[in-house]
Amino acid sequence: MTVKKLGVLGAGTMGAGIAQVGAQAGLQVTLVDIDQKFVDKALAGMKKNWEKSVAKGKLSEEAMKKYLDNIQISCSNDDLKDCDLLIEVIVENIDIKKKVFKELNEICSPDTVFASNTSGFSITEIGVASGRPEKMVGMHFFNPVPVMKLVEVIPGVETSPDTIALATETCQVIGKTPIPAKEAPGFIVNRLLVPYLNDAAHAYDEGVASVEAIDEAMKLGANMPIGPLALCDLVGIDVLLNVVEYFYKEFGDPKFRPAQALKNKVRAGHYGIKTGKGFYDYATK
Ligand code: 3HC
Repeated sequence: MTVKKLGVLGAGTMGAGIAQVGAQAGLQVTLVDIDQKFVDKALAGMKKNWEKSVAKGKLSEEAMKKYLDNIQISCSNDDLKDCDLLIEVIVENIDIKKKVFKELNEICSPDTVFASNTSGFSITEIGVASGRPEKMVGMHFFNPVPVMKLVEVIPGVETSPDTIALATETCQVIGKTPIPAKEAPGFIVNRLLVPYLNDAAHAYDEGVASVEAIDEAMKLGANMPIGPLALCDLVGIDVLLNVVEYFYKEFGDPKFRPAQALKNKVRAGHYGIKTGKGFYDYATK
């Protein structure tokens, strides 16, 4: 089976990015969230990205119009019922994901393949809760989705070969490189990246250097494209803290103890770029 209709549940930064690359690849994309303002904001963001490309001469007006025609926005999960592949990109909370997939199992065609963009939760556990574990797969995208090439493809214990093949092929269709990973907390990239980001926040907590100095040091000394604390802001400190806490619980290893700075910023609602404030202040940028 080849994907023609792509459902994306969750219109935050990642969901909007996945919808954007799907529409660019000619898929019929339905983007759903619980509130009209979220889907409106996501669509406006995509339009802005495409308008920038038009202004740079990298995209024609006609192509942009086609991309827009490929996207339908909605606030009803019922509109996801006949999609071939449904990618869930909602809040990083395993109990909410399990509940939502159980509901989607009642709504969607039995042929619909379910994918979760979870940053590291168990695909097996989400799949079993959904009621269709053989059709559940992890498809882990990276922020910003329109730019980052990788998608980690993660089977659960009961995921069928057809489901893995569909997820893998879809990555290729939308211009991404699929890399298979076994089910383990954080898969490949977050297993390595999240402790680094958490350690940068610990270094900040301990007064090793300022936010700016930590970031500049990693750019100049390790050739990182962006400093770790700026990357926390890009990823979303709320998302990051959820993952670190999950690692801490799952591995039972004190090296994953969440940095105080991450906890304080989440308590203050300072999640990073998406809220206008994190380690940096974006209101002034
Ligand atoms: N959406 C769409 N396009 C974007 C974008 C966005 N949010 N941000 C940048 N771009 C595009 C620009 O339009 C530009 O396109 P062009 O080449 O056609 O003109 C191109 O990307 C380069 O952008 P800039 O020159 O403005 O900026 P940079 O050179 O600084 O590159 C970056 C931006 C690629 C995001 C770079 O800063 C980078 O690589 N950062 C690290 C990103 C990273 O590590 N992501 C992984 C996070 S972990 C994760 O997501 C997993 C999760 O589970 C936690």
